[in-house]
Amino acid sequence: MTAPTQGPGRARIDARTLRTDRWWLPPLLTFLGLTTFVIYGVIRAFMNKWYWVGEYQYLAPFYSPCLSEVCVPGSAHWGRWFPDLGFLVTPPLFVLPFVLGFRLTCYYYRKAYYRSFWLSPPACAVAEPHRRYTGERRFPLILQNAHRYFFYTAIPVAAVLTYDVVIAFHGADGGFGVGLGTLVLLANVILIWAYTLSCHSCRHIVGGRLAHFSRHPVRYWMWTRISWLNARHMPLAWLSLFSVGFADLYVTLVASGALADPRLFN
Ligand code: FES
Repeated sequence: MTAPTQGPGRARIDARTLRTDRWWLPPLLTFLGLTTFVIYGVIRAFMNKWYWVGEYQYLAPFYSPCLSEVCVPGSAHWGRWFPDLGFLVTPPLFVLPFVLGFRLTCYYYRKAYYRSFWLSPPACAVAEPHRRYTGERRFPLILQNAHRYFFYTAIPVAAVLTYDVVIAFHGADGGFGVGLGTLVLLANVILIWAYTLSCHSCRHIVGGRLAHFSRHPVRYWMWTRISWLNARHMPLAWLSLFSVGFADLYVTLVASGALADPRLFN
């Protein structure tokens, strides 16, 4: 079969690319960044401990919401929906399909992992190694179209993380308090909301399919704000990925006793 880059009507260029810049650097960095996150995520998902700091009411984002019978006392804010299904079925696995589904089907992440993991293509004007190109028209990639539905599941997850921040304003004596962990969780939830609201599906839901913006001033106003965020979707994807990993690691270290949470107030 003819390679897609050498089909009829295409210039006969045998070189894989004529680019002379370091086009391989962005996909390489993306590969390293996403791989690091996946390794950390797998380790944390099956660690099944050190996710709750009762003294300051910190809940690690990877374990929120904690909906299982096995959640440590104090951490199941929304009830224990699921029974103990053994050590392989840890609390994060009940929420992971929605969180992962949202990120995996994200338009930006699709570009990122198609380029860095599948080299399809690795960069603009660089031929891919695959001989066939089927796009996202058939199984399994046609499932990427479910992104708009995953967006709806991302909203309650972000709302739950917001609740976690509110209760993290908790002092050791039981009253109001602020620690470094509170600020870490707060920064994380701001970035999670910014990433979620900058979603292309969100932008379309808010302002799409309108014939006249002038007749929908509120939606138009929201659409302009979301469009501003949407233009920053890639950095927000990375910042929120970093922040959720960092916030989770921070709570893990405090919960394990490896780190003392510096207190700013109470
Ligand atoms: Fe990236 Fe929707 S397009 S989250």
